[in-house]
Amino acid sequence: MTILGIETSCDETSAAVYKDGRLLSNATVVQLFHSQHGGVVPELASRAHLKLIIPIVDDALKDAGVEKESIDAVAAVNGPGLIGSILVGLSFGKAMAMGLEIPFIGINHMEAHIFSNLINEPKPSFPFLNLTVSGGHTQLVLVRNYFQYELLGETIDDAAGEAFDKVAKMLGIGYPGGSQIDKLAKEGNPKAIAFPRPYLAEGSHQFSFSGLKTSVLYYLRKIGFDKTSVNDSRFIADVCASFQAAVVDVLIDKLIKAAVKYKVKDISVSGGVSANSELRRRLKLEAKANNFDLFIPELSFCTDNGAMVAAAGYERLRHGFTSSLEITAEPNLQL
Ligand code: KG4
Ligand code: ZN
Repeated sequence: MTILGIETSCDETSAAVYKDGRLLSNATVVQLFHSQHGGVVPELASRAHLKLIIPIVDDALKDAGVEKESIDAVAAVNGPGLIGSILVGLSFGKAMAMGLEIPFIGINHMEAHIFSNLINEPKPSFPFLNLTVSGGHTQLVLVRNYFQYELLGETIDDAAGEAFDKVAKMLGIGYPGGSQIDKLAKEGNPKAIAFPRPYLAEGSHQFSFSGLKTSVLYYLRKIGFDKTSVNDSRFIADVCASFQAAVVDVLIDKLIKAAVKYKVKDISVSGGVSANSELRRRLKLEAKANNFDLFIPELSFCTDNGAMVAAAGYERLRHGFTSSLEITAEPNLQL
């Protein structure tokens, strides 16, 4: 079975080919021009997807050495995400499936992130606990079996990646902020500033990053930080490291506590923030200390990619789930 997977829900245009449980290609273009606007501009993102979708799908097929006639199904994300962006990949995927007279499979973007740990071996065994930390979501999900998800908790305000991006903006260190903070934090002291750890109520599986973000803002205001003047790089590194440590502490604490409570053996993380080097380092230590088997996607599968969509589409087709061509884009689609 050969599946073409398409991802266009935000600012990555990506397509991948997955055949018989093996990834053959994953072609991605990150729309870097959004950085000059300080964040993703939805209208520009969808126009860029329109320009990129055909060359990216062509690249994915070429890299895989697969003719479009030998594809068995097309899978594309139908939500959640930016409506104009989703529509490009979804419409293209549906049209391609219709033209080739093969099934179409609409994929939930959050399901796809969970599948980023099910692309290659070794894979977690069911039931496992997955934490998706991205720019739009922070979700703790008990994955009981294929397509059987129990959402244990999510953010009540900002997503983890959103907090990274907003703090980076306050510091004037560019967009996307997560990877910049990750890089600069390596030179900083994580104990320099005691930012709050938003654990919420005892035993809560919910997350909140808005207060932490605001406390960084107040701290910068208090000391008269001006992002437009030349700043001490050591100071910026300390803010990055201290903020990052607070986020990582909370994410790991909640993941480990939930894993103990639900008695799972395997835990995983996914989404753009799972590329964070400090999160990855600390997770490995904590998983080992608590006897969990940890699954972290390789870096190219952390941020949005077609491979996770193709892998989810493959399992859906194998389990007999396909979608009607009437399926629409749903910006707020729930898991
Ligand atoms: O999963 P993703 O590509 O898109 C969404 O579905 O939202 O995640 C993007 C997010 C951005 O907020 C970005 O700042 C964050 O992931 N991110 C990181 C790192 N790389 C990307 N956050 C922390 N550390 C990183 N290395
Ligand atoms: Zn995503």
